[in-house]
Amino acid sequence: MCGIVGYVGGREAAPVLLDGLRRLEYRGYDSAGLAVLEEDGSMAVRKRAGKLEELARAIEGAWPKGNIGIGHTRWATHGRPTDANAHPVADCTGQVLVVHNGIIENYRPLKESLQGRGHRFQTETDTEVIAHLVEEGLGRGLPLAQATRQAVSCLQGANAVLVMARHCPQGLVAARLGNAGGVVVGLGEGECLVASDLPALLPYTRRVLFLSGGEMAEITREGACLSTLAGEPVSRQAVEVPYDPLSVAKGPYKHFMLKEIMEQPECVLDTLRGRVDFEGMRVELEDVHLSPEVLSRLRRVVLVGMGTSYHAALVGRHYMEAIARLPAEAENASEFRYRDPLVGPETLVVAVTQSGETVDTLAAMEEARRKGCALAAVCNVIGSQASRMADAVVYTRCGLEVGVCSTKTFTASLVVLYLLACYLAQARGVQPPEALSSLLSPLARLPYLLGEVTERAGEYERLAHTFYRYSNFLYLGRGVQYPIALEGALKLKEVSYIHAEGYPAGEMKHGPIALIDQDMPVVAIAVRDPLYDKMRNNLEQVKAREGRLIVLASEGDEEMARLADYPLHVPDASPLLLPVLTAVPLQFFAYYIAVRRGCDVDQPRNLAKTVTVE
Ligand code: F6R
Repeated sequence: MCGIVGYVGGREAAPVLLDGLRRLEYRGYDSAGLAVLEEDGSMAVRKRAGKLEELARAIEGAWPKGNIGIGHTRWATHGRPTDANAHPVADCTGQVLVVHNGIIENYRPLKESLQGRGHRFQTETDTEVIAHLVEEGLGRGLPLAQATRQAVSCLQGANAVLVMARHCPQGLVAARLGNAGGVVVGLGEGECLVASDLPALLPYTRRVLFLSGGEMAEITREGACLSTLAGEPVSRQAVEVPYDPLSVAKGPYKHFMLKEIMEQPECVLDTLRGRVDFEGMRVELEDVHLSPEVLSRLRRVVLVGMGTSYHAALVGRHYMEAIARLPAEAENASEFRYRDPLVGPETLVVAVTQSGETVDTLAAMEEARRKGCALAAVCNVIGSQASRMADAVVYTRCGLEVGVCSTKTFTASLVVLYLLACYLAQARGVQPPEALSSLLSPLARLPYLLGEVTERAGEYERLAHTFYRYSNFLYLGRGVQYPIALEGALKLKEVSYIHAEGYPAGEMKHGPIALIDQDMPVVAIAVRDPLYDKMRNNLEQVKAREGRLIVLASEGDEEMARLADYPLHVPDASPLLLPVLTAVPLQFFAYYIAVRRGCDVDQPRNLAKTVTVE
């Protein structure tokens, strides 16, 4: 949840660290800090509660000087967001500084035993135990790497740690425990960086090394030396990441969320590129290596994910049943992981996760792996933990998603799930060639149709200006559009803090209809698909109770235009692909309402982009 960054090299460290923290602020933003090892051997620490700008103001005009340092942007788990609890956190002698992402599950017994050995604690954080443990190791004459190894080996839970010590001017030590909390090392010319995520590294280098759980790195200006926590050397080739720092900038847009909504036509195009042979009408997925034996023994698919990715999984369930003809279900990963699910080698578990680092989704994957399931991941971050765990990975090719609220990776995940379903249908021979061809050919037009939707941004903005003062919304959909109703409601909640609920429209008369009045606008997705008539009946029922109806309908649908108080239109497309289009106006609607209400769209309160703690 927090962002960590470190630098060793020839530049002044403090500006590099601050720049890195700005690029990681989406991971946490209740306090921030940095520390630089100065030339006289002292460690200059600056930390502030509040947003990163508070720290920047505190440093302005008094930059600590030195070429090695660490920084942190925090999302509090233990201890309030105060100056004292901000990271870096020191031991009691001030020799060791630590930045940390995660939760140390056994921090209480560790703290008590350290206190028993005379250590005095200065913060309310769990992180501080690491600093004291490292200091003990250094006190026994261990080098920093060895002291850190011993310290982190005492920790339980998923944690990423970066350590700097006064008497070790040559470098930093980073460690990753468990699957949560990414650590990426960036290898530059005569300099080396380390961070929780790529955006902090990209202005300096694109050559990176991802640390797996149970590994650590000694970082000097010459490079990084990797080993396991047990002390075994790890040899790993650096990978060149295809991201461009410019794409991380907002460009002409006021917010990343808006930029990322607008990027969807291109993201979907990139996600399709080279994967569908529109001549031979076949799907080719480069990183899906499921053997014929695995494919032939499959009897069902279970899709797991959290939040927006869970909503994508719910749409994916329809794809698996309709296209791959496999019984499918979708489940919230945090539920799946704890209920001893009845799955086995005949089950394909598909994890949907933008970051590839969400702790519950990774745990669900581990559970599936333990039970012998085949494992696939739909993921946006190359080299992320989920992508390394899965037998088959299909990347969404969206570039970095910086807005905390997922938009472009949602629609691209739907496209990937569709492709995966077509791939399974093709590999298992369950769809005749002409059926496969009619499933694949509409994909070619999808980016264009998405472009038609994004061009209507002004229409959604006007609608948002009509509705921004309301306090409650109901979102309705049916079939493959029901998850889009859930997703529309989630977007609104997240960025505008307005209460919104998504329901299957058929459920209305079993309770929610009691809520309908002039103060509860209903957003309904009623496009031309096999459930259109059913949906229209449900909306008539809302209308009869004087509900205010915003209807997302298919282009040219006069009947819906008459029924709706506020009609919006999306182009016609094949029913299974329509969710890719209908999701977008709902993203815009939430965005413009939030902007109108003055909300912090890219960094909504209490949220973090990557949820690496339970
Ligand atoms: C909502 C949102 C979250 C994420 C969820 C899973 O806009 O972004 O609900 O979808 O935290 O994250 P990933 O996809 O990284 O596993």
